[in-house]
Amino acid sequence: DTGLVAFDPSFGSTASCRSSITYIDGDAGVLLYRGYPIEALAERSTYLEVAYLLLFGELPSAAQLRTFVHDITYHTMVHEQISRFYGAFPKDSHPMAVLLGVVGALSAFYPDSTDVFDEDQRLISVYRLLAKMPTIAAMAHKNSIGQPFVYPLNRLEYSENFLHMMFSVPAEPYEMNPVFAKALNALLIIQADHEQNASTSTVRTVGSSRANPFACIAAGIASLWGPLHGGANEAVLTMLQEIGTRERIPEFIAKAKDRNDPFRLMGFGHRVYRSYDPRAKVMQKICDELLSELGDGDDPLLALARDLEKSVLADDYFAERKLYPNVDYYSGIVMRALNIPTAMFTPIFAVARTAGWLAQWTEMIQDPEQRISRPRQLYTGPLRRDYVPLDQRP
Ligand code: SDX
Repeated sequence: DTGLVAFDPSFGSTASCRSSITYIDGDAGVLLYRGYPIEALAERSTYLEVAYLLLFGELPSAAQLRTFVHDITYHTMVHEQISRFYGAFPKDSHPMAVLLGVVGALSAFYPDSTDVFDEDQRLISVYRLLAKMPTIAAMAHKNSIGQPFVYPLNRLEYSENFLHMMFSVPAEPYEMNPVFAKALNALLIIQADHEQNASTSTVRTVGSSRANPFACIAAGIASLWGPLHGGANEAVLTMLQEIGTRERIPEFIAKAKDRNDPFRLMGFGHRVYRSYDPRAKVMQKICDELLSELGDGDDPLLALARDLEKSVLADDYFAERKLYPNVDYYSGIVMRALNIPTAMFTPIFAVARTAGWLAQWTEMIQDPEQRISRPRQLYTGPLRRDYVPLDQRP
C-alpha cells in the first residue's frame, strides 16, 4: 500500500515512488487527478484551475483561483534578452529543440532558483515556468515562420493567450475563436499529468540531485520529445498522411504485425493502459465537437483515423496485446483542426505537462525521505580479469 514497487522484470520498470497526485487504473481505463476524474475536469475546469489542483491537492476557491491566475499572469513575459536565443537557432529548428534550449537557459536568469528548499523560491519558479512555457513555445513557432514575437496579453485567459501569441500578427486584430480556446483548454487539462511516465520520472530523477527546477523541466522536455512518448502525436499525423487512404490500411497493419519490421502504429498501445486510454475518449469527443462546430465533420484524416482504429480493434494480434488508441491518437487531429502546425504538437504537450512535472517535482522535494535517485542494475559484463599490455593483444 506504500506504492513502492521493486524491480519488476516482467514490466522492465524500476522502483517507483510514493505519490498522491495522479491515479491510473490501466485495466479499467481510469485516470484521476487528486481523486477527480479527468473527464469532469476537462469538461468543467480551466487549465490553471487544474494546475492548482495538481500542485496544492485541492480545487481552489474562487478567491484562491483569482490570486493564482493573477500571480501566474504577471510572469507571462520573458526577459527581453531571452529573445536573442531564437536568432541563434537554425531557421528550420524543431521547436522542441528551441524549447529545450531556452527553458534550460532560464536557469541562468534566476540563480536563486537553485535554493530548492526555500518555499518562496520554489513557488516563484513554479509560477514562472507555468506562465512562460506558452510564451516560449509560441515564440519558437513565430521564429520558425519569420514573424515577429507576440507579447502575452494579461487580459486573456491562459489558452486564449497562447492562441493569441501563436496566431496574431501586429498588422491586424486577432479574432479569438472561443471554440478553439475551449478545445485547447481541454487538451491541456487531459495531458497535464500522468503519474510516473518517462518524462515525469526524468524530472524527478534530475530533481533528486537538487538541480534547479528550470534544469529539471528542460530534462522533462528532452524525454517527452521522443516519438514513443510525447512525440507520438506528431508521429500519428505523419503516419495517417503516409497511409493516405483506407485501402492502404491493411498494408500498414501488416507492417505493424511484422516482428522484423520496427514500424509501430503511432497512437496505439500504452505501458500502463491495457484498455482504452480514457484521455483518448475525451480527445475523440473534443474532436467530434470541434470538427462539427467548424463544419469539418468529414475531415478525411479523421475518417481515416476512425477506419484505422476500427481495423486495429477488430484484429486479434492487437487485441491479444491489449493495444488501444492512446492520448496521442486523436490529439493530433484536434490540433490540426486548431490550425496548429504539426511541429508544434509536442511543444503543446510540453506546455500541458508542465503543471504535472512541477507538481511531481514539488511533491518529491517536500518528501522528507527523499534521496538522490540511484537505480541499480543487473550486471551482465565479464567477471574480474587481468590487464593485457598493448603488445600482447591479438
Ligand atoms: C505517451 O507512460 C505514459 O504515461 C506516457 C503517456 C503520458 O501521458 O505521459 O501516456 C504519453 O507516451 C503515450 C504513448 C505514445 N506512444 C505511441 O503511441 C507510440 C506507439 N506505441 C508503442 O511504441 C508502445 O505501445 C509504447 C511505447 C507506448 C508502450 O510500449 P510497451 O508497453 O513497452 O509495449 P511493448 O513495446 O512491450 O509492446 C508489447 C507488444 C510487442 O509485441 P510482442 O513483442 O509482444 O509481439 O505490443 C507490440 C510490441 O511489438 N506493440 C505494438 C505497438 N505497441 C506495442 N505493435 C504495433 N504498434 C504499436 N503501437
